[in-house]
Amino acid sequence: MADTDWAGAREQMLLDPTVVNLNTGSGGPLPRRVFERVTALRSRLAHEPMDFLLRDVPPLLWRARESMAAFVGSEPHRLALTTNVTVAVNLVASSLRLDAPGEILMSDHEYAPMRWCWERVAREQGLTVRTFRLPEMPGDPQEIVDAAVAAMDSRTRLLFFSHVVSPTGLVMPAAELCEQARRRSVPTMIDGAHAPAFTALDLAALPCDFYAGSGHKWLLAPTGVGFLHIGAGQEETLRPSQVSWAHHPPAGSPLDERDRFGSTPRLRRLECEGTRDICPWLTLPEAIGFQAELGHDRIRSRMRETTDYARHRLTGWYGLEPATPASPDLSGGMVAFRLPGDTDADALRRGLWERFRIESAVAEHPDGPLIRVSSHFYTTEAEIDCLAEALKELQDRGSTPRK
Ligand SMILES: Cc1ncc(COP(=O)(O)O)c(C=O)c1O
Repeated sequence: MADTDWAGAREQMLLDPTVVNLNTGSGGPLPRRVFERVTALRSRLAHEPMDFLLRDVPPLLWRARESMAAFVGSEPHRLALTTNVTVAVNLVASSLRLDAPGEILMSDHEYAPMRWCWERVAREQGLTVRTFRLPEMPGDPQEIVDAAVAAMDSRTRLLFFSHVVSPTGLVMPAAELCEQARRRSVPTMIDGAHAPAFTALDLAALPCDFYAGSGHKWLLAPTGVGFLHIGAGQEETLRPSQVSWAHHPPAGSPLDERDRFGSTPRLRRLECEGTRDICPWLTLPEAIGFQAELGHDRIRSRMRETTDYARHRLTGWYGLEPATPASPDLSGGMVAFRLPGDTDADALRRGLWERFRIESAVAEHPDGPLIRVSSHFYTTEAEIDCLAEALKELQDRGSTPRK
C-alpha cells in the first residue's frame, strides 16, 4: 500500500473538513472531478436543453451504459439505468407474476423498504413472505447457503437477498445462493445496493435473474444513478410503470441493439420517463475512471485495512462487540458493532452528530442496536479514533444515551 498516496487521493474528494464521515454505506461523497462533470452537463442542459437532450445525450448515454456494463461484468443491452435501487427493485416487483399460493423467500436482514415492496406483491398476488435467519457471525459462506437452502421448498416462488447486507456489511455468497435456487427452478433477485466498487462484480458469471445496484454509495457517482441487470431469459418480463415515448418501438427494429437514443428499444421502454435530468447517469465513465486510476483492487485493500483497524480499535470498547465476520470472504469495507442492549440508537446518532460531527449509521435492529462503520479509501485511522473517543466521552460523562 506504500505506493499509493491515499492522503493525496483524499484531497481530490469533496469532503466537508468539519465532518468525520464514516457512512459511505448510506451515501458516498463525490470526487471533485465527478461533481465538475455533472455540473458541466447540467450547465449544458440549462443553457440549451433541446440541443443537449437531442444531440449530446445519445452518445454520452451509450458510453455511460458501456462503461457501467464493463465495470459490473454485464452487457450494455442487459443494463437498464435507473434512479436508484428502490426503483429497480420496484420495477421487477411490479412486473413479476408469481404462482399462488407460495412464498417469497428472503433473509431476515433485508432493507426494510425492499421487504415492504415484496410484502405488497405477496399480498396482492396471494403469496406470503418467508424469512430465513442469517447465521450470527458465520465462519464460512456455506453456513449462509445452508440456511437459505433449508428454507427453500416447493412453495418458494422467488429468492430475494442483499449481496451486501445493509445493517452489518456481511457479504453474501451470491453465486452459490443463485446456483442453489436455479437447481430448484426458483428465480432470484439480488439487491446489490452496496456492491458496486465494494466488491468486484462479474454479473455474467452470476446466475441470477435480476440484479439491482446503486452508483451513489461506494462507486462515488452522483445521487440519481442506479441500474438493473436483466438476466438471460428475463428480457420479456419487465413492464415499466410509466408509458412514455419509447412505448412503441419503431417497427422492425431489433429490440436489443443500440438505437439512436443511446439505449436499445427494450431498455428505452424501461428508462424513458418523459423529459427529465439524466445527467448523473452520464457521469458513470468519470466515476468509474476516477477509482480505476487509483486501482479498484488497491482501493478495496485499503478499505479492508481501515476496516480491520476499526474492528481492532472498537472491539470491546465500551461494550461494543463486532457483528460482522472478519473473513475476507464475508466482509469488505464495513464493520458493524452490537451496542449495549439498552442503548437509545436515535439519541446516540444525535449525540455523535451534534457534539462531534460524526456521521455513522446507528440503528435499532430486531437483535439489538448496531453501529456501522464504513471505510472507503479516504477514511483515515484518525477518524476511527475520533469515533472511539466520542463514544468514550459520551459514556464517561454519563451522557451515553440509554433508553
Ligand atoms: C440493502 C439496500 N437496499 C436498498 C437500498 C435503497 O437504496 P436507494 O435509496 O438508493 O434506492 C439501500 C440503501 O441504503 C440498501 O442499503
